[in-house]
Amino acid sequence: MTIDRRAFLAAALSGSFAFPFAGRALAATEVERVDALIARMTVEEKAGQMTCLTDSFRPYNPPNPQVGIQDEKRLAEEVRKGRVGCLFNGIGVAGARRAQEIAVKESRLGIPLLLAGDVIHGLKTIFPVPLAEAASFDPALAERTARAMAQEASAAGLHLTFAPMVDVARDQRWGRVVEGSGEDVYLGSLFAAARVRGFQGRDLRRDDSLLACPKHFAAYGAVAAGLEYGSVDISEETLRETHLPPFGSAFAAGALTTMAAFSEINGVPATADRELLTDLLRGEMKFRGFVFSDYTADEELIAHGFAEDERDAARLAVLAGVDMSMQSGLYIRHLPDLVKSGAVPMGTIDVAVRRILYVKMAIGLFDNPYRSISEEAERTRIATPARHALAREAAGRSIVLLQNSGILPLDPAKRQKIALIGPFGEDRDNLYGPWAFYGEKGKGVDIAAGLRAAMPDPALLSIGKGCDIMALIDGGVAQAVEAVKAADIVLLALGESQDMSGEAQSRTVIELPPPQQMLADAVAATGKPVVILLRHGRALALHGSVASAQAVLATWFLGSEAGHAIADILFGRVDPSAKLPVSFPWESGQEPFFYDRKSTGRPVIDNRTEYRARYMTTDNSARYPFGHGLSYTRFALENLKLSDTALRWDRAIEVTARLTNKGDRRGSEVVQLYIRDRVASRTRPVRELKRIERVTLDPGESRTVRFSLSRTDLQFVGSGNRIIAEPGLFDLWLGQSSEGGLHAQFTLYAEAVAPASAR
Ligand code: NOJ
Repeated sequence: MTIDRRAFLAAALSGSFAFPFAGRALAATEVERVDALIARMTVEEKAGQMTCLTDSFRPYNPPNPQVGIQDEKRLAEEVRKGRVGCLFNGIGVAGARRAQEIAVKESRLGIPLLLAGDVIHGLKTIFPVPLAEAASFDPALAERTARAMAQEASAAGLHLTFAPMVDVARDQRWGRVVEGSGEDVYLGSLFAAARVRGFQGRDLRRDDSLLACPKHFAAYGAVAAGLEYGSVDISEETLRETHLPPFGSAFAAGALTTMAAFSEINGVPATADRELLTDLLRGEMKFRGFVFSDYTADEELIAHGFAEDERDAARLAVLAGVDMSMQSGLYIRHLPDLVKSGAVPMGTIDVAVRRILYVKMAIGLFDNPYRSISEEAERTRIATPARHALAREAAGRSIVLLQNSGILPLDPAKRQKIALIGPFGEDRDNLYGPWAFYGEKGKGVDIAAGLRAAMPDPALLSIGKGCDIMALIDGGVAQAVEAVKAADIVLLALGESQDMSGEAQSRTVIELPPPQQMLADAVAATGKPVVILLRHGRALALHGSVASAQAVLATWFLGSEAGHAIADILFGRVDPSAKLPVSFPWESGQEPFFYDRKSTGRPVIDNRTEYRARYMTTDNSARYPFGHGLSYTRFALENLKLSDTALRWDRAIEVTARLTNKGDRRGSEVVQLYIRDRVASRTRPVRELKRIERVTLDPGESRTVRFSLSRTDLQFVGSGNRIIAEPGLFDLWLGQSSEGGLHAQFTLYAEAVAPASAR
């Protein structure tokens, strides 16, 4: 927010200040209190408020480079001197209390610390990785899990989580795909808002409200070739149309902080990009909170070749609009002198400090510095049975049934002998996913344990590892094949280790490691029916016997209750209802790959392939498209109707269709509405998702799904960054994935009344 002092004063004089922090306006007295504090602060104390350091008061082990970490004694001294305003990535109430007492009782101004951490998909109870949860296509579920995470994190002495990650990720080589909601802007925007609402709750001052920090601003997911920390070269239109909307949605839901991306955009590192962090973020997007740098990202301006030295880097970052420097210590080391020398105006510092203190004020820290620091909450609110039940539910709803010959669900009454083969059958080190470092290691439910708990006779289960994740084991494949021969059915648990996705884990191919593919081929050669249980943090390109197995389930990293949830799906206790938030291509080389691609001038039509936009070995379709996911029952979508085929400029049309459960089991389907703008002043994607609706039906039951579409749903970023809708013909599909579906067309008319010929 560009803080306008006159506006503040005017508002203060009128008795209240409309600073809508998640529904709460700061009172005039609170604004005055911040102003009075700032008036008393030295420039060093101001730079201290703008500094966030790793929390050595409590156990710290998250996945960042081990640089600049101080021991508790040295850090305590910094807090005492007011040289730090925020600590991050430590958990535990005892340490939080020690730190906060020093800040409040021993520092000159007694300003409480903000305590932050990466709680991405769980603290102790681990929920599915965000990408998996996005497969639920159910933002309400994400809101519930975010709320549960907030309750645990705030009980462990945290005020803020560096989440949700709202980067749209279109290249599956990029390891951080796992942290977001996938490739789609609309779905990503729904999940961004839901997660912010869930983390923050209804009242920011409550002890269990956790501030959200949607990240990484902006377009981090567009790094070239999926290379982590890489460069982004992007058109202004794509930046605005694809990468900004989830941030807008998160801010509209009340997020008060964000984090600048590590990457550069069009030659300027985000951390030093004033046009991005100030003009666009605050000027255009009206963001009102404060901006964190990413971990040592200000210092990294030197390696980028953008800053001469540390001092220059601090200057560039603060002038660009980074309010809080994470971990480098550059602000506390250089801002005081930069201000004294006139290189950075005091006004810039005051604005940043004010933003930070407003956020502290908004969460009630000044009235109760010990909020979220409660021994009782820590004892009672973490890893409760209710939360584990939610983790199991969320995990079950994240599993995507990619294909099924009819082999699933398994019928326990048949007493089939099951061979569980593969490196993930009994593995507990790769259940949680790459961003769950506070979870108790080895405590999650693995697949074998989940199956045993679900099988009436666990003796019917045999287990063979076959190979390691990345290597063959001596005699492993042969032993596995023997176990398979003695079984009726094979569950083959294959995939990626959890350190093959996440930060700094880009891959060049998105395939199963060769030893696992060899194992799969040997198992398939026995002729036994095979169900593949994939573990992964991204879309994969599947080949050979894996792709042709009788059934394939995308099970991602599902968290604490993974094994139970997988068994729930295998035995049909839970009907699969998830949909892919990322397209699975035929081959790695198709990446970046996403369903809302452009037509090109030579699309493949009617199987005509010569001189067409395709690869030599595959056309550019998906093996499993975005939005795809099967159920154990069958749904039919029929009778698509539009209330009018003429959409007038200021009106809406209603789109309806009838969904029927034609199978013999209760199940859920997600009806998806896509459009295509046929002719526009900027070419439009072949499809764009505009609405989703989840419907649960009993066997034989039908329901009419209804969507309303208006001009604003048809808008895009046109030349000069104008958001426009253009009159003309539109395709519309209502379907069960981003391919196929019921088709209709309508026309948008610029006139308020459609011409008679169209009526
Ligand atoms: C670096 C990551 O990019 C960011 O997402 C995370 O929040 C910080 N490290 C803090 O751990």
